[in-house]
Parts: sequence; structure tokens; C-alpha cells
Amino acid sequence: MCGIVAYVGPRDAVPILTEGLARLEYRGYDSAGLAVLGRAGDLRVRKAKVRVGELAAGLPARFKGAPGIGHTRWATHGEPSDLNAHPHIAGTIAVVHNGIIENADELRAELAADGVVLSSETDSEVLPHLIARSGEAELEDAVREALSRVVGTYGIAVVDARHPGVLVVARNGSPVVLGIGEKEMFAASDVAALVRYTRQVVHLDDGELATVRADGFRTSTLDRRATRKEPSLIEAEEAAYDAEGYTHFMRKEIHEQPAAVERALRGRLDLRFHTAHLGGLNLDPREAREIRRVKILGCGSAYYAGQVGAQLIEELARIPADAEPASEFRYRNPVVEADTLYVAVSQSGETYDTLAAVQELKRKGGRVLGVVNAVGSAIARECDGGVYLHAGPEIAVASTKAYTSTAVVFALLALHLGRIHDLSPADGRRIAEGLRALPAQIEEILKQEDRIAELAREYAAYRSMLFVGRVRGRPVAREGAQKLKEVSYVHAEAYPASELKHGPLALVSPELPAVAVVPDDELLDKNLSTIGEIRARRGRVLTVGHRETGDDAIVVPKNEPELDPILLSIPLQLLAYHAAVALGHDVDKPRNLAKSVTVE
Ligand code: AGP
Repeated sequence: MCGIVAYVGPRDAVPILTEGLARLEYRGYDSAGLAVLGRAGDLRVRKAKVRVGELAAGLPARFKGAPGIGHTRWATHGEPSDLNAHPHIAGTIAVVHNGIIENADELRAELAADGVVLSSETDSEVLPHLIARSGEAELEDAVREALSRVVGTYGIAVVDARHPGVLVVARNGSPVVLGIGEKEMFAASDVAALVRYTRQVVHLDDGELATVRADGFRTSTLDRRATRKEPSLIEAEEAAYDAEGYTHFMRKEIHEQPAAVERALRGRLDLRFHTAHLGGLNLDPREAREIRRVKILGCGSAYYAGQVGAQLIEELARIPADAEPASEFRYRNPVVEADTLYVAVSQSGETYDTLAAVQELKRKGGRVLGVVNAVGSAIARECDGGVYLHAGPEIAVASTKAYTSTAVVFALLALHLGRIHDLSPADGRRIAEGLRALPAQIEEILKQEDRIAELAREYAAYRSMLFVGRVRGRPVAREGAQKLKEVSYVHAEAYPASELKHGPLALVSPELPAVAVVPDDELLDKNLSTIGEIRARRGRVLTVGHRETGDDAIVVPKNEPELDPILLSIPLQLLAYHAAVALGHDVDKPRNLAKSVTVE
């Protein structure tokens, strides 16, 4: 959840580190820090509870050097503060760390008993001390020895003033990627920090360590076996990591959705057999016929997109399907069945709870597919097969284009499974055509932005909002409430419309408006009665659907009923975005959140 950048080479590391950290700030932004080796071989450190821009602006002109490491933090152990900011130092050694050291209390007590004075409250600070106390002559060996004492997850970068020209990085559960330059090398926790300097990268595997010098790198496992790595190319263009004139990444990513959906569909629709081809599934038609259940796992918006997916699979393939938070599933000793297809959903491919759920499934012999955006990420690599979203980098903490692309990929999967089971060619064609219509229909919705922004400014004045939807509209309501609370901090509660009168109707009053998701489907009448019940209690209703029904209405184009949920979410993203802007919040970096939740 934090960001790491490192550089070794002939240039001054400082501008490279600060620029890279600024690009990683979406991953965590409680504090920031740098350590570089000065020309005299001295270790120079600056860290503070500030954003990267402020840290960079406050650096003295003489603060220069290489190699160097940098960090932007999302606090887990110890509050955001100057002392808890990374890098952590022991003598000549500086370390930046992502992840959690589970036996930190024990290690801290052991170090303290030996007279070491720890200056922070973090788990990470034990690392430089353990490295410093190793008797090993080589930095790589000292790091290896220190890591053998550690239980938990880490992505680390280490410099030591006694070893100029060397950087050591290691990975276990928290990503580390090397960037290969011309007589210079980079390392980071995310390619976003590297894309300006190189497109050639090497992803470390868990349990792997690298010694990096300006002229190359050497990788090995923690138990000293040398490993061979093939460089790969970064897929996205550098511009994809920039706001490109938009005030916020969230707005840019909302507007990128027509193109993202095009990419998710590209080459995957078969208009001859009215089905979808998903190359990476690793599931032949006979195996697909044997699936008796589909279980979708993800966290937050990935889980809500999974709920849309489960409905699509049940409706189109008539295979019982449901979605569950991966964070719950992994802790409940789940029964894993051979004829169930498990699907893990993740934009980042790093979410720890989702990864742990996949690992639990694999341990029990389950078959797991990944629906993942980040190519080559931990979850993608752990799964037996899967489908990439190709949504491009998503930088705003609030997921928008990845959520929509996930729903589209599930529609493709449902179509594929449906045509292997009992979905007729006519229905297959209907869905394929519906999918092809989505990008233009999303464009239509985006044209209503001004009107939605106006509504958002009005509704942002309320302290709390209710979101209701029935069956297909239910995950739309849940995701709409999630978006609103994430970025505007307006309390939002999503409820199945059918459950309203079993409890939450008691809350309805002129102070509590409702957003009702009302597609023109077979449940329209039921939804209209729910709206009537809210309005009868003087609750203001904003409807999102295919006709004007509430006090206020956002009307979206009609697609096939099974695909309507994909479109109905788009106005709710704009509503949340403009409510947050109206309230003056930092839309892309909402308080307390980070983009990738790589801790439990
Ligand atoms: C979405 O707006 C949230 N930031 C969050 O719920 C997110 O979807 C969740 O943490 C899962 O992330 P992932 O898709 O990267 O696994």
C-alpha cells in the first residue's frame, strides 16, 4: 500500500526518486522520505509527514547523490509522523519497506534487550538493524540473513554507505519490479514509477532477492539459488499514467470507460457462433460443461463487480453463481468443491485478502481463474488461468474503469459459458450485440455530466443517503454507495429495495434522500412501489434508470436487461465524483484509503 522507488547509476537519484514517488503517491500518502549516498559516500536522509511535493520542495540544493531509495507511506504500525516515515536507518544502512512484519514485536524486544534504541513505532525499523547486525561482508548476504528472521510480507530496497554503487531489493508478498536502463537501473513497487525512464522491466517473484548495480542485476532466492529472469515490456504508454489535462485521475478514468470497454471486448466476440472467446481461461468446453457452481471472490468494488458477474452467469449460463468478499472467504475454512469454478477479481492483482483466498483455494485443490487488470501481478500469476481487463493503469483510489471492465469481462465469461450450456444462438447474438453497443452508450451517459454535476452539488448537502436496487440493480446500488462514501465522505447505505420495509424505511425522512436504481425490466412495478413508499415518507428520490420516475432522474440508454447494470453504474460514478469536488475533497487520494490493500 506504500510506494517504493530506487535508483542506481551515474545520475543524481533525487529527481528520479521524487518524480517516481509522486507517481506512486496514489498507493499511500501519509508521509514520504528519501535516502541517497552523497559523493563523499555519506548517507543523506530526508523524511517527513508531508506529501511528496512538499518533501521535494523542501530539499536543499546540495541534497544529491546515488544510489538512492524513496518511499511514500500508508500507515499500519504507528501513526503517520516524521519518525515513522521511511527510510529507516541503522548506522550506514537505509531501508524502505512495504508490507507487514508479523513478528516485529518480538524482534523489537530482542533488539531493545541488546541495547538498540529504536526511534519509530514501526515494524519496518527492525530491518536496517537486523541487516546492520549481520556479520556478512556482502550487503546481499546481510539482507538475506536479516530476512530469514522475518515473518510477514515485504517489498524492500536497501542501500548501505559501506557498499556504494549497490542496491539490494527483495520481495515476499509485496511487489518489486526492476527497470533496466542504459548503464543505470531502477526499482519500484509499481511500473508507474518506471515508465518515464524505461519500458524494460523484470518482476521479482516472492522469495526472490536482487543485487542491482548500474550495469545490471543478479537475482537469487532467499536460500541462495540463482534465478534467471526474462525482461518484459511495460504494456501501457507513459501518458496513461498522467492526468492528461484532467483535474483528477478519477474523472479521467470515468471518461476513459468507452475505450476501456472497447479494449475488454476486442478480439473476444465471436459473431459467427454468437459467443465469446477468452484465450487465457485454460478450460475446454468439456471441462466447462462439468462446472456445477461459480464462486466469485474479490474485495470492495471488485466484489461488487463480482456480484454483477454472478448474476450474469446465473442468467446466461444457468449455473448457480454467487460472489463473496475474499476477505471473509479466506477466514472461514471454506468447503472447496472440485466442480466449482472459483474466480478471483482484482484490479491491482495485489490485494492481500484476495491473494490469500486464491492461495487457500489452490492449497485445497480448487480451480481458480483470475479477472485481473495488472498484467503479471501476484494474483494473475497465482491463478490457473484468467482474463485480463486491459483497462490500462487505474490511478485514482476509487475504482471506475476497472469496475466497469470487470463487469464487461464477466458478461463475456457468462456468454461463453452460456453458449456451452443452454443459451440459444439468438440469445447469444442479442448479448453480443448488446456488448458491442456499450461503448457508444457510455459516451451518451458521459454527455450528461453537467446535469449530473448539478444534482451532485444539491445532494452533497445531505449528511447521509440511501441507495436501493432490486436483483440486477442491487450491486449497482452497493457500488454507487461505495463510490459516494469513498470520495465524498457522505454516509451512504445500500439496501436491497425489497428489504426496505423490513427495517431501513424507519430512517427515511426529508433529511435522508434515496438513490433508486430502476431499470425498465420485469421488476419495474416493484421498484416504482418502493419509490412510492419513500416519497410517501417525504424522502427525496433520485432515480437512475430508463425513464423519469423520481423527484430527480438520470436516464440512461437501454441495453439488453442482463447488461443494463453495467450502464447504470456510470452516472453514480459521476455523482460521487462531483459530490466530492463540491465538498472540496482530495478526490484521487481520499482520507484513510490507499489504492492497493496489500495488508490484511
Ligand atoms: C474501489 O473504489 C476501492 N478503492 C476498493 O474497494 C477496491 O476495489 C478494493 O480494495 C479491491 O482492490 P483490487 O481490485 O485492486 O483488488
